[in-house]
Amino acid sequence: MTTENVFELDGRPLRFEDGETIFEAARRAGTAIPSLCYDPRLNAFGGCRMCVVQVEGIAKPVASCTTKITRDMVVKTTTPKVERLRKTLLEMVLSENPDRQVSADRGLAASEMNDLAQRLGVRRGRFAGATSGKSRPEDDNPFILRDYDLCISCYRCVRVCAEREGDYALGVKGRGFATQITAGFDRALGDSTCTYCGQCVQTCPTGALGDKQIMRFESLSAAPETTRTICPYCGVGCSVDLVTKGDRLVGVRPAMDGPANKGALCVKGQFAYDFVQHADRLKTPLVRNEAGELTPASWDEALDRAARGLTESIAKHGRKSVYGVASGRAPNEAAYAMQKLMRMLSGAHYIDNCSRA
Ligand code: SF4
Ligand code: SF4
Ligand code: FES
Repeated sequence: MTTENVFELDGRPLRFEDGETIFEAARRAGTAIPSLCYDPRLNAFGGCRMCVVQVEGIAKPVASCTTKITRDMVVKTTTPKVERLRKTLLEMVLSENPDRQVSADRGLAASEMNDLAQRLGVRRGRFAGATSGKSRPEDDNPFILRDYDLCISCYRCVRVCAEREGDYALGVKGRGFATQITAGFDRALGDSTCTYCGQCVQTCPTGALGDKQIMRFESLSAAPETTRTICPYCGVGCSVDLVTKGDRLVGVRPAMDGPANKGALCVKGQFAYDFVQHADRLKTPLVRNEAGELTPASWDEALDRAARGLTESIAKHGRKSVYGVASGRAPNEAAYAMQKLMRMLSGAHYIDNCSRA
């Protein structure tokens, strides 16, 4: 950045980076311009025009998310004209969205449109519209609700699937009130190339896409709490926020600021967390009794039994008769200890783990 990279935002001089848009610079400076089709991880789309601002010398308001800043540009984000425009635009958007209470549990951004309507003081009913998508209740996949009656055609789902997941599972059919988000050739998600990463769910600003797994616990009255942690499945180390209600783990949210994943997850990290509180989960070691049945044991008993089995096998069948596999959920220190144990114990390099993805 050079010292001349300065423009004026609401009467204040502000530095900008080459190629930065008005929306990005304003957000960086703490000015929250309204938006609906914007997701910071995606290429600017310019579809909803909710982010319009007034630029000196340009007669009509411009979309700030697609307008790059030039030196000495003078921008106003809150003139009566742009505020009126935003309200009218949002009233038109709301005209294609049924007035239905949607739980914020459905996805990270599920309340975004309704929150914006509240923030701008916009009410429904000024324009007679029609819902522009038809829900797909027959799509009985276990992960993603496709409640397109709530769709406002922002295309965030289509874009995140293409730009972030590289999957291109979603597309758009029709135009205007006939617009319909589709998967594959208008089929069920399971019949498309969808990987069930869940990113379309988390970016949807209306709850038209919902996380069916977390929705199972909507009736639990306890307030949801989140705890930041790392996904346990593989070695990538994606940051996640675990959602709990009371002592029940009800869902997983990808962390948008996770350095390894930036809001992305795979199907396991996003949806496969039932093992945590599954009735079949082992809570104590098991060893076989003389009848060959698995019975609960203390850690000392189980470790002694394992040590005896390993040393007997090596004595009887040689050092290559044993093989160690470390859990990908183990930390580096435990993985190191495991490879040391196997190499010292057998003298062979028969050791691996699943910490790759
Ligand atoms: S779950 Fe992932 S792959 Fe499937 S449609 Fe949504 S974004 Fe695309
Ligand atoms: S389903 Fe959601 S994210 Fe996709 S276009 Fe409709 S409102 Fe936007
Ligand atoms: S947020 Fe800029 S046009 Fe939608």
